[in-house]
Amino acid sequence: MLTVQQHSRLGKEILQDCDLAHLTMPQVQSLKQSLWEQGVIVVRKQKLTASQLKDFAIKTFGDTNLGRRPKPFDPEIDPALQSPGVSILGNPKGLTQEVVGKFAWVWHHDKDHLPKTEGLDMNALYVVMLYGVEIPAEGIDGEPHTTNFLDMMEAYQNLERQHRQQLEKQSMYHLSPITPPPGEDIPRKLHPIVSTHKITGRKGLYLGSSTSILQGLEDKPQEAQLYWNDLFATILDCTPVYAHIWQPGDIVFWDNSQVMHTGMPYNANKYKRIALRLGVVNH
Ligand SMILES: [Fe+2]
Repeated sequence: MLTVQQHSRLGKEILQDCDLAHLTMPQVQSLKQSLWEQGVIVVRKQKLTASQLKDFAIKTFGDTNLGRRPKPFDPEIDPALQSPGVSILGNPKGLTQEVVGKFAWVWHHDKDHLPKTEGLDMNALYVVMLYGVEIPAEGIDGEPHTTNFLDMMEAYQNLERQHRQQLEKQSMYHLSPITPPPGEDIPRKLHPIVSTHKITGRKGLYLGSSTSILQGLEDKPQEAQLYWNDLFATILDCTPVYAHIWQPGDIVFWDNSQVMHTGMPYNANKYKRIALRLGVVNH
């Protein structure tokens, strides 16, 4: 597996010296255009409250209500970091022995965590914004703190032609990569492996996570897992992983229709990390 810190498409920095809370409509349009073209973009040096982040998301993409019950207000956390619908990741209450964020340390698309949402088709443009408020000096083993991405359009192009043709005929059932909280109805969704992007019309792979089951292997969970692992290993052999190195104030946007991602571990009893996360469907 090859990991790169510069990628030909993913991770482009846009809107330098802009404040996301005060963008003009042409700037909003150009941000969206860049996102569809690049798959992952970053706007740096931002200073927003959670509710400013949410207002920006609504203005840019539309409604942010995706059926999740908002967490109640927590008096031990800075009120500026709290707004219904905006999740706080990391250890905002300080250093802890707990392992923080483990659920995000597998390769996945975020759509598969979503509860049943009326009208949300599998090709929907589900965008996630991750705002690094406080970023640890390092991730694991002294390396910089990163979130890693795979360009699934590049991955599709890098496969051999015969393999692409075979995958065009196949679909997988996607399940959440994590056990959902009690009472949350997260449906199993059938999705073609080769997906056409709604705006760019480009083809890419949509694999869910390692819990996905190839159609036809519903009763053979071990074979289904082997199939997914083999396919994913083939992709990692021929497609570089892009590591976004975090700086405090970064807001990274990714289009789940084009990329997979994985969080990377950090030491929460040595470092504090606070990130705000917001997912939205483009309307
Ligand atoms: Fe995620």
